[in-house]
Amino acid sequence: MSTALLKVTDLKTYFPINNGILKKSTGFVKAVDGISFSLTKGETLGLVGESGCGKSTTGRSILRLIEPTSGSVKYKGVEVTTLKKNDLRKIRKNMQIVFQDPYASLNPRLTIGSILEEALSTHRIGNHSKERKEIVMDLLEKVGLNSKLVDRYPHEFSGGQRQRIGIARAVAVNPSIIIADEPVSALDVSIQAQILNLFQDFQDKMGLAYIFIAHDLSVVKHISDKIGVMYLGRIVEFASKDELFNHPSHPYTNALMSSVPVPNPTLKKERIILKGDVPNPASPPSGCTFHTRCHACMDICKTVQPKGIEISPGHIVACHLYN
Ligand SMILES: Nc1ncnc2c1ncn2[C@@H]1O[C@H](COP(=O)(O)OP(=O)(O)OP(=O)(O)O)[C@@H](O)[C@H]1O
Ligand SMILES: [Mg+2]
Repeated sequence: MSTALLKVTDLKTYFPINNGILKKSTGFVKAVDGISFSLTKGETLGLVGESGCGKSTTGRSILRLIEPTSGSVKYKGVEVTTLKKNDLRKIRKNMQIVFQDPYASLNPRLTIGSILEEALSTHRIGNHSKERKEIVMDLLEKVGLNSKLVDRYPHEFSGGQRQRIGIARAVAVNPSIIIADEPVSALDVSIQAQILNLFQDFQDKMGLAYIFIAHDLSVVKHISDKIGVMYLGRIVEFASKDELFNHPSHPYTNALMSSVPVPNPTLKKERIILKGDVPNPASPPSGCTFHTRCHACMDICKTVQPKGIEISPGHIVACHLYN
């Protein structure tokens, strides 16, 4: 059994809701409300769910770009949530993030060469400027960009090229985990596959582990080893990719599956249309938070929050159909 590179246990991140001129806290948005999973070397966890279900907050809380409210994040057995600034900086070298919008995440006033050099010097990689410049040239070629473009600015590149720069910046410091927060959502469909392939290449070459965040299952289908389906701050179903696609069990997962295109159109599947929008996370529904949109809702679902049940090895579902 391989040991966990990253182990997240009961992670919670609540944002206070401040009302009135005194800014008194009147409640919380439970953006992440008790998430647990582990990740081993070279593995990809896909995290999927609709907008606002807490995917980005999960990713950022792991890196402490947002401070989690409670829970544990262990990187190679070291508790990250309590690390002091200097130790946190050292451990962040191992866990990098790639953002959805590659333009907003690249400083428009710096050339791409300077952006990459800055990442290297932050983590004290390369002994001197000349060495860092060589590493940068090599990185650009590795992500499929001509190293002659090193002195250009982010706005001179296309969306796909900018995401290649974002990936170069993440892999520059030789991390073991990359959190990719919807890295292809802003790109044309024709470019998405190229970027996904680039992620795959780096994983094969560097043994990287990914937390790959996406809105819909079709994006994570190829890249993921295992998948967590999130709804209002919780993982409602967790399984290996094959198990999830062969035996989707939570009504929410089934609804998300219905929107994944079927490769063989003669294979008929029943479409489950999700009713309404995601409820306001500041006042989530009682019981199972999905009950207001669920086609299989029973009385108990309105009052009792379902616990995660292991319905087959490694396949966990939080739904009263199985409780
Ligand atoms: N800094 C913040 N302050 C207050 N509330 C926040 C903050 N960041 C996120 N939220 C709220 O937390 C919830 C989860 O947001 P989050 O961005 O993690 O969702 P997401 O799943 O990444 O959504 P999307 O798919 O749109 O990116 C949302 O209701 C959001 O409004
Ligand atoms: Mg997000």
